[in-house]
Amino acid sequence: MSLEVISNSKEMTAWSIRQFGSGHSIGLVPTMGALHRGHLRLVDEAALGSDKVVVSIFVNPTQFGPNEDLEAYPRTLNEDIQALAEQGKAHAVFAPSVREMYPLGVNKTWVFVDQLGDYLCGASRPGHFRGVTTVVARLFAIIQPTKSYFGLKDAQQFFILRRMSIEMSFQVELIGIPTVREVDGLALSSRNRYLNAAEREQAVALSRSVSEAKNLIEHHGETKVEKLIEAMKAELAGITLGVIDYVEIVDGENLQPCKVLTPGMSVLAAIAYKFGKARLIDNSISLVP
Ligand code: PAF
Repeated sequence: MSLEVISNSKEMTAWSIRQFGSGHSIGLVPTMGALHRGHLRLVDEAALGSDKVVVSIFVNPTQFGPNEDLEAYPRTLNEDIQALAEQGKAHAVFAPSVREMYPLGVNKTWVFVDQLGDYLCGASRPGHFRGVTTVVARLFAIIQPTKSYFGLKDAQQFFILRRMSIEMSFQVELIGIPTVREVDGLALSSRNRYLNAAEREQAVALSRSVSEAKNLIEHHGETKVEKLIEAMKAELAGITLGVIDYVEIVDGENLQPCKVLTPGMSVLAAIAYKFGKARLIDNSISLVP
């Protein structure tokens, strides 16, 4: 299958219109590149659910804070295209330049979702979600996908984008795909490549911590958030490298903190942890019995 690589947004839109003209649906997998098995799993899902698959590759400057890893973020476009070509499921790669996505230079038009970004990554990365929603809104406008696929490792991002999409009347269905993990449980992330061997070994505690919260909520009837956070932190106690950014439990609907869980409630247990310049996140979503 041929894989078209498009960098111009007008050409991208024209490509999509041609697909619609032939009666095809379009599945979009938005990425920042440095593709790993987690991204390829999203592409697999997109190929199952849509006739044509577009993968966007764009390291979006507006979602990085001033002291974050924008410059260092891995840019591996040739390898990414190679990996997609080998997988054989994507039909087009949209790889615009910064100028193409932000044609007037300093950006003045933002899409912002209120409240859902107040806690977790929204609190520790001010402005991050505003950058994500703005760039994804632009990708939706350019590509006009029928469905769009996101990894649930970034659960807060997914909930915010779903809300944005409904409230902006984008005609796209958002689909969240469970986190893909290494054999020992570490969530796949483009930032795992920053870890040294000792950090990599310790990082597995993050997945243990969020699974422990799920286990306590779903199988042991724990409803006190304070106890759950204590248990999550206990799983992280063995890590001697790096620092906790946050360990939190929020209501899975409005992403606001809560003290006691009630039956039927959906709950997001989330962690961000900094190992040197690698800031890793993980989470579990539970339903209170
Ligand atoms: O999850 C990501 O890789 C990015 O936040 C996204 C959705 C591609 C927007 O830049």
